[in-house]
Amino acid sequence: MKVTVVGAGNVGATCANVLATREIANEIILLDIKEGVAEGKALDIWETAPINLYDSRTIGVTNDYERTAGSEVVVITSGVPRRPGMSRDDLIATNAGIVKSVTENVIKNSPDAIIIIVSNPLDVMTYAAYLTAKVDSSKVFGMAGILDTARYRAFLAEELNVSPKDIQAVLMGGHGDTMVPLPRYTTVGGIPVSEMISDDKLNAIVDRTKAGGGEIVKLLGTSAWYAPGAAAAQMVEAIVRDQKRIFPVCAWLKGEYDLNNIYLGVPVILGKNGIEKIIELDLNEDEKALLNESAEAVRSVMSVLDKM
Ligand code: NAI
Ligand code: 2OP
Repeated sequence: MKVTVVGAGNVGATCANVLATREIANEIILLDIKEGVAEGKALDIWETAPINLYDSRTIGVTNDYERTAGSEVVVITSGVPRRPGMSRDDLIATNAGIVKSVTENVIKNSPDAIIIIVSNPLDVMTYAAYLTAKVDSSKVFGMAGILDTARYRAFLAEELNVSPKDIQAVLMGGHGDTMVPLPRYTTVGGIPVSEMISDDKLNAIVDRTKAGGGEIVKLLGTSAWYAPGAAAAQMVEAIVRDQKRIFPVCAWLKGEYDLNNIYLGVPVILGKNGIEKIIELDLNEDEKALLNESAEAVRSVMSVLDKM
């Protein structure tokens, strides 16, 4: 089982480390454009194997796509991250060029690979990869919803003083300020969250979740990597182990939720074929309105890409 991670920066290296430590793939290729960076980080990860007691091999390469040939899954994290004062959308021109050229090289060497995009602005970079890869949309999708729900679940666990393991949640829409956490579909140990928390506190947590990426950018001067790297690795695991996990994933919609030709976060079943099913929830009018608002925000950035 071979998995490639493109971009050996904060998110990519973290993802490779999780893939190796949890033995999700036995060969992990970490690729970066900067000479020596992927090699150095891959070697450092490999040197944790005798300590953490695993045998997955991580190998670093500088722009050598032949070494990625035959990968079953490729995670694309290459691109520039947000700095304070920047929105995810400010990254579009730079990252679209990077994502397109990386996707071309990936598909040339691993035509059957399932591609997971992480680079921002997420929904539109996933669209850029899909246009470039020219494969079925079940094989090109983006990571954001697992991260955004993880933030929501972590904040709820802290507020309720319960294990984050017992909080289940769905979140939809674009990876930005218009994302749509869905309290109606949030449970704590099977109990609807509304029975455990006041509306005011829940609304404050929803707002904090929407601004969760920016909260870290303000603290660190760059964007998050531990949770994003782990989230991408969890998607890889669902695919390579054919787990049929249900996750919110940035997926290409063809009429689901009355939306067409757009990448947007929706719940899906992830397995060995990539997205095996998009789950359609019976949203109420308020939830539909929020999802449509989020879709409009994503479409406006997609149109910037279309004009480029
Ligand atoms: P980083 O700057 O630490 O790493 C990016 C890496 O990409 C660098 O090592 C750089 O050399 C490499 N790179 C640039 N151009 C490349 C190319 N053409 N080929 C191969 N490698 C190339 O950035 P970080 O923090 O790892 O973030 C990566 C991307 O992920 C950013 O766009 C960031 O906004 C996004 N992100 C998305 C999240 C999500 O939820 N979808 C969460 C966190 C970050
Ligand atoms: C995040 O949500 C910036 O997309 C990145 O952390």
